Amino acid sequence: MGMKLLVCGGAGFIGSTYARQRVLEHGDEVTVLDKLTYAGREENLREVAEHPSFRFMRGAIEDPAAVSAAIAGGSPEAIVNFAAETHVDRSISEPDAFVATHALGTYVLLEAAREHGLRYLQVSTDEVYGSIEQGTFTEDSPLRPSSPYSATKAGADLLVQAYVHTYGLPALICRGSNNYGPYQYPEKLIPLMILNALHGDSLPVYGDGMQVRNWIHCSDFARAIAHVLERGVPGEVYNAGGPDEQPNIEVVRRIVALTGASDAQIEHVTDRPGHDRRYSLSSQKVRALGWSPQVRFDDGLERTVAWYRENSWWWEPIRSGEYRAYYERQYGRALS
Ligand code: NAD
Ligand code: TYD
Repeated sequence: MGMKLLVCGGAGFIGSTYARQRVLEHGDEVTVLDKLTYAGREENLREVAEHPSFRFMRGAIEDPAAVSAAIAGGSPEAIVNFAAETHVDRSISEPDAFVATHALGTYVLLEAAREHGLRYLQVSTDEVYGSIEQGTFTEDSPLRPSSPYSATKAGADLLVQAYVHTYGLPALICRGSNNYGPYQYPEKLIPLMILNALHGDSLPVYGDGMQVRNWIHCSDFARAIAHVLERGVPGEVYNAGGPDEQPNIEVVRRIVALTGASDAQIEHVTDRPGHDRRYSLSSQKVRALGWSPQVRFDDGLERTVAWYRENSWWWEPIRSGEYRAYYERQYGRALS
């Protein structure tokens, strides 16, 4: 018998990966509650949409009526919260929704978990620790977020911890490093560069491109979240980092090679304000629960490039829709 789960934000990139894994590989019963912002897409859930153990409900986590309806519909044992605004650049130009979803939305879900006696897992990010030039962050490192995205995610984490300490809520936090893989919205580095490379567009590297990210395949992060929910100690934080760190410029060069694009497409553009130089996570604590990442970056990146090549049905409507206008605003030039 699997678990009954309420997966908030399950129509996004990582939430849909987790929902697919739980329903198709583990026999869990999953209700997804998702607002379907620009980043949330029902197509991401097409492999489970008709499954008898899967249910989709459209609604916002900051709406108590929508959350109550999702709990009444799915009778979950646990809430797993992926719902978030997730792009740092958008948090710099338009922070409002980040505050609403991360602060108010997390609060509404925590209240619902308390009222119904549910286990709760907050999906969080390494960005709450801020930048680290050398060494690696552990779960005890102080929170020093730098962008509106990471600051509001850190605020949500603190609220979760307050519910643990004050009300004894059995809540856990899992902080992941930079994810990549299929179904990632093309505003993020890897899918943006893959699609621009395939279209002959320029490849906009912020600043010198020597910023370092710790890449984890979304299937590995989704499995880490499942491990933490099932085996973690309530009240604890678990980091889940990927096996490989890469400077951005190296990632872009590999994408150029894998797509057959030209190095001449690489263009260094104005840096992101307040850009974090390096993220790095120690995952010893979640490894002690029996998890380890399975996908090395070279292999995962090759498979990801192949997925975007083969799934133009998924990205064509995105690239011709809202994303086009966003790209022009953000980069001051049009996509081809
Ligand atoms: P995503 O932007 O692809 O998906 C976010 C989903 O949340 C979308 O389906 C969106 O419609 C939904 N959503 C947004 N606001 C909502 C609201 N108010 N109510 C209900 N649904 C709402 O993001 P992702 O990359 O899949 O990230 C998922 C989670 O993982 C986030 O919490 C993010 O902070 C965290 N995370 C992401 C990464 C990464 O590299 N992408 C790394 C570590 C942690
Ligand atoms: P991103 O995918 O936005 O993730 P995050 O900011 O959460 O780490 O960016 C990853 C890295 O790539 C980050 O250092 C910023 C850089 N970047 C670029 O150089 N150019 C781009 O067009 C984008 C979107 C990101």
